[in-house]
Amino acid sequence: EKVPVSIEINGKAHKLSVEPRTTLLDLLREQLDLTGTKKGCDYGQCGACTVHVNGKRVNSCLTLAVMTHGKKVTTIEGLANGDQLHPMQEAFIKHDGFQCGYCTPGQIMSAVACVREGHANSEAEIREYMSGNICRCGAYPNIVNAIMEVKE
Ligand code: FES
Repeated sequence: EKVPVSIEINGKAHKLSVEPRTTLLDLLREQLDLTGTKKGCDYGQCGACTVHVNGKRVNSCLTLAVMTHGKKVTTIEGLANGDQLHPMQEAFIKHDGFQCGYCTPGQIMSAVACVREGHANSEAEIREYMSGNICRCGAYPNIVNAIMEVKE
């Protein structure tokens, strides 16, 4: 049986009806067509599904949609300000912080949280904070450089 939920997603209020077992990831991708958030492993191991809930990063594959009732969700689609990319998006482009790009939305959502939460003070600290975001192409050094630049 479906449950009614109200969630603010990227600044827009949504009244939705979801199955209790539906993850936030599946809600975003399948009901709302917000496919920027990626499904890698679907069990909390890769970080491709990272979004922000009330400003904190979460793995959306481990978050039930019903748990975000009354909360604010931000996805990669909500980061830019109109035509203007978020500084972290600009920095990823400038520093080649991706190759295939599959992990990039999750990397960027974690990177924004990293700076916002004050964990971008050294390369080691950034690598530790970002360790839940896996990149099979190995773009890690460039991702760290992008984060360092935004932090300054
Ligand atoms: Fe959520 Fe991999 S898809 S952590």
